[in-house]
Amino acid sequence: MDTTVIPPVSLEELSLLTRRASTVIERLRERVFAPGTQKRLELRFNVRTAAEMVGRTEKAIRDAEADGRLPEPEKDAETGRRLGYSLAEVNRMREVFGTLPHRAPDDPPLIMAVQNFKGGVGKSTLVTHLAQFFALKGYRVCVIDCDSQASTTAVFGMNPDVDVDEEEDTLYPFFRHGGPKTLHYALRATYWHNIALIPANLGLYDAEYEFAARMAREPTFILDRLREGVETIADQFDIILLDPPPALGMLSLSVLRAANALVIPTPPNNIDFASTAHFLKMMEATLGELALHGGARSYSFVKILATKMNDQKSAHVAIKRMMDAVFPQDMLNAVLKDSAEIDNATANLSTVYELTGAATRTETHRRCRAYLDAVGREIELLARKTWPSHHRALRKEGVL
Ligand SMILES: Nc1ncnc2c1ncn2[C@@H]1O[C@H](COP(=O)(O)OP(=O)(O)OP(=O)(O)O)[C@@H](O)[C@H]1O
Ligand SMILES: [Mg+2]
Repeated sequence: MDTTVIPPVSLEELSLLTRRASTVIERLRERVFAPGTQKRLELRFNVRTAAEMVGRTEKAIRDAEADGRLPEPEKDAETGRRLGYSLAEVNRMREVFGTLPHRAPDDPPLIMAVQNFKGGVGKSTLVTHLAQFFALKGYRVCVIDCDSQASTTAVFGMNPDVDVDEEEDTLYPFFRHGGPKTLHYALRATYWHNIALIPANLGLYDAEYEFAARMAREPTFILDRLREGVETIADQFDIILLDPPPALGMLSLSVLRAANALVIPTPPNNIDFASTAHFLKMMEATLGELALHGGARSYSFVKILATKMNDQKSAHVAIKRMMDAVFPQDMLNAVLKDSAEIDNATANLSTVYELTGAATRTETHRRCRAYLDAVGREIELLARKTWPSHHRALRKEGVL
């Protein structure tokens, strides 16, 4: 019998692998974050689209421009052609016409965690796309990146290794005794009008160990700190989205405590579904345990979203059917199907909503956008149901 065994991988080889992996990431980031290339939002809307977004007619917009309530539309200096409206300009129109969808100050802000302890299920993808969906609708959005991998931070145009200081810019200092009293220090405006970001970087990974060590001594301080922090900034936003790391650590637990709503992305395949079932069980146990420390948390909604679903795979279809049967009340109706469009956008540290020009005229793009919009609309409705000031409008729309 051949007893030769594959030689074990040495530590040196592993560290070589690590360095090579870092090189790949650096190259990608060099391309996206090349000096002088600040990420910008190229989206422009013509008057017809703007009118739809604002909820008024094109004529109403033209009239307001003519009588000075709105500025004259921008034109290309050379060709004299209209440039179309930016998102900030569309929001200006919403302000003038009174159609901004903000919650009333007494309505609770939606603080939604996209949570699943399983990695790669589409948490960050959902967070970045939802944030932009809501921003396009005119909501005031905050994204909190709680994951040391910082993929969401990168998508919002910041290089986590260069633009984000470990000691000062992330959630980390907020967990220090005698640290900042509010989370304002960490809020950054992004190139998306109405999306603020609290960035992350690798420093949060070390923090995780530190928090674990402190857990025995001061469990409530660690576990409730994020919730307290979010409350210090919540008045400025309609929707706060939390993007946790894929592990059952202190940060993930604080995220569960900080949120008042939960969406659990789950690809309908055996392994991911099993992890989700496990996640639900752990969550139940952990939240029960945490409630013993005081401050039980209840959620205005907990929804499971089928992600990365491929209709061509019979196993996906079968498991999705089972999920619908087992959790009839708890599944979102919308499904985030598997789409090359999403994968390609992520590979470029970008999103489907940011694409412009020819790239948006393909059938793949249109379909993908329809999936994303359907998810966004469903969550928007759930959010608005938690806002008493929206109830009258919801009744009028026939959805309450
Ligand atoms: N609907 C989808 N269609 C195609 N690809 C997708 C879809 N959703 C996510 N992906 C891809 O799957 C990968 C993992 O997605 P993402 O980073 O959002 O997952 P995650 O749960 O945040 O991962 P982690 O646990 O590492 O934080 C990415 O490459 C992303 O482009
Ligand atoms: Mg992620």
